[in-house]
Amino acid sequence: MKINLANIKKAKKLLNKSECIAIPTETVYGLAANAYSDRACKKIFELKKRPKNNPLIVHFYDKKNLSNDCSFNSSFIKLYKKFCPGPITFILDLKKTSKISKISTNKKNTLAVRFPKHPVTRKLLKELKFPLAAPSANLSSKVSSVCSKDVKEDFGKKIKYVLEGGNSTMGLESTIVDLRNKPKILRLGSLDVSLIQKALNRKIKINNKPSKISSPGQLRLHYSPGIPIRLNAKKTKINEAFLLIKKEKKHKSNYYYLSKSGNLKEAAKNLYSTLRKIKKKKYRSIAISKIPNKGLGQTINDRLIRASKF
Ligand code: TXA
Ligand code: MG
Repeated sequence: MKINLANIKKAKKLLNKSECIAIPTETVYGLAANAYSDRACKKIFELKKRPKNNPLIVHFYDKKNLSNDCSFNSSFIKLYKKFCPGPITFILDLKKTSKISKISTNKKNTLAVRFPKHPVTRKLLKELKFPLAAPSANLSSKVSSVCSKDVKEDFGKKIKYVLEGGNSTMGLESTIVDLRNKPKILRLGSLDVSLIQKALNRKIKINNKPSKISSPGQLRLHYSPGIPIRLNAKKTKINEAFLLIKKEKKHKSNYYYLSKSGNLKEAAKNLYSTLRKIKKKKYRSIAISKIPNKGLGQTINDRLIRASKF
């Protein structure tokens, strides 16, 4: 993707003034602000209507830039070398001397750290003198944004600027791995857990059940298109859209496909945009066919189960 330097300059200028803007990443778009500034981080929580006790992921250009804020361990070094920049978020211990805003971490002594791969955002991070706190650029509990149009749809004029970066190539959020003690997965995501296990040469527990971090309201419903969802459906009811993993020979006007051939990577990329598309058609609900629970299919199912708690 060609980088528009005038856009980077505009983004930089706003971020330097503690404003909040949207940035593209390979997973989903983020709502970004200076992670060292309380004032800037507060704006993220306000704009997103995010509960104060739900801390933000902070995005860095590289490991060197992180060294003042977090301490490293051997698992981190291994995973960093293998997967970064890329769709993985690490939970690490914060250093006492760290300048990361306490608003962004909700005063926790840990930090969620990510090194995004999108070339536009990498260029921006390289130019800034601070890392970027950035949760997904959607209203709390709703479907994430995978293009600039989605962000504008959710926030309208409330957002000062959306840095253009085309469509997110992966389409689902990063995989979160807690590396403080025994590594464990806190959120399934765009990076297949089996690859993380292979890199660390050990089995890793998946602990993505509701934790103390998020507020109860948020846990009940997440990634929701705003209408009810039925999982493992075989047929539709009246006024219902049918979301299928792969294209069927028999097509009906209420059928939507995540992939032509049932490819899970393609399905992951198309999930959120297809849910948004269906919502706009004014169906009452969405029936979803069974999705294989392996590889990225596990992440797709994780999101759909949460979205079905309507
Ligand atoms: O792909 C992604 O991760 C995207 C892009 C923009 O980077 N970001 C994203 O952020 O999905 P968000 O805020 O929507 O999800 C981050 C999750 C939240 O559930 C939050 O509770 C958790 O990370 N989190 C943040 N800090 C944490 C910490 N110190 N310990 C455990 N979980 C944490
Ligand atoms: Mg989110």
